[in-house]
This record gives sequence, C-alpha cells and structure tokens, in this order.
Amino acid sequence: MGFYLNNKFLSIAMLSFLMLTSCKKEEKVAEDPIKKTVEYDMYQPSEMAGFMNAMYAYNQQLKAQIVAGETPTNLPLDLLKLHSAEMTDGKSRTQNWESFVNVFINSQEAIVDTLSNTELKERYNVAINNCLSCHKTECTGPIPKIKKLLIQ
Ligand code: HEC
Repeated sequence: MGFYLNNKFLSIAMLSFLMLTSCKKEEKVAEDPIKKTVEYDMYQPSEMAGFMNAMYAYNQQLKAQIVAGETPTNLPLDLLKLHSAEMTDGKSRTQNWESFVNVFINSQEAIVDTLSNTELKERYNVAINNCLSCHKTECTGPIPKIKKLLIQ
C-alpha cells in the first residue's frame, strides 16, 4: 500500500512536471516570431491546358502499351472537348488550330481502330506528329515534352 501511494505520488509529480514542461514549451512557441504566411499566385491551368495534360498522360500510357507489344483499344477521353474547352486567357482558336484539330482527332481515334491496316506504331506516331503540327504555331513550350512521346 505504501508503495502504491508512493507510486501514485510519483505519478502525480511526474504528470505535473510534464504539464509544467509542456506549458513551458507552449510559452516558447508563443515567443517564436509569428511565421509569415506567404501567398503564392497559384498557377490555375485552363480547362484546355488540363485536357492537354490528360491527353499527354493518355498517350504516355499508349506508348508503353505499344512498346510492350499490346494493342490498345480504349480511348477514355472525349476528344470533342477540344472544340469546347476554355483556353488560357488571351488564347483563342486560330485558323491554324481549326485546320489541325480534326486531323488530330481522327488520327488519335485511328490508334484504337483495331480494323486498321496501318501498322499500330505508325498510326500512333502520326497522332503525336499531329500534336506537334498544331503546337508549332499554337503553343511551342511543350514541344520537347511531346517529342518524347514519339516511338523511335
Ligand atoms: C489543334 C491544336 C493542338 C493539338 C492537336 C494539340 N495541342 Fe496541346 N496545346 C494546344 C494549345 C493551344 C495549348 C495551350 C492551351 C491553353 O493554355 O489553354 C496546348 C497546351 C498543351 C500542353 C501544356 C498544358 C499546360 O499545362 O499548360 C501540353 C502538355 C500539350 N498541349 C500536349 C499535347 C499533346 C500530347 C497533344 C497530342 C496528343 C496535343 N497537345 C495536341 C494546341 C494543341
């Protein structure tokens, strides 16, 4: 019993010690200079930019499948979004855009056309070259990245 009491006393002592130290810690924290919250001007990709990135990811996946000898049959993207998606402020659909967009859509769809007589790798590279054709005039930044999609 005496031991138990002793122990209880010890525990209480320990607890209050802990509480004291933790209170001290809090004090210390309060003494620290208040961290300045920096607000970054977050880059908000346009609907079109988001869709382009989805197309990029999709074609990356196609490339991996083709290289592995598989036959892709799935086209989960709604390519008609290219006609409707909002673009980054200041950008609009130019004549050049209009002349490339349908050619591109047809070539992207042709990749998953299992009845085609054209070799799969060739159909794929045609689509990627159509990405590049439009990008040469409409948006040159991602060209090196898109080139990496080509199958050598
Ligand atoms: C008909 C023209 C056209 C075609 C075809 C096209 N793009 Fe684009 N792409 C654009 C334009 C214009 C933008 C800029 C969109 C914006 O900023 O709103 C863009 C933007 C991008 C971006 C940058 C997105 C970002 O985060 O800012 C990537 C990556 C991209 N395209 C990849 C591709 C790939 C991959 C393909 C083919 C599978 C492709 N594009 C086909 C015109 C095209």
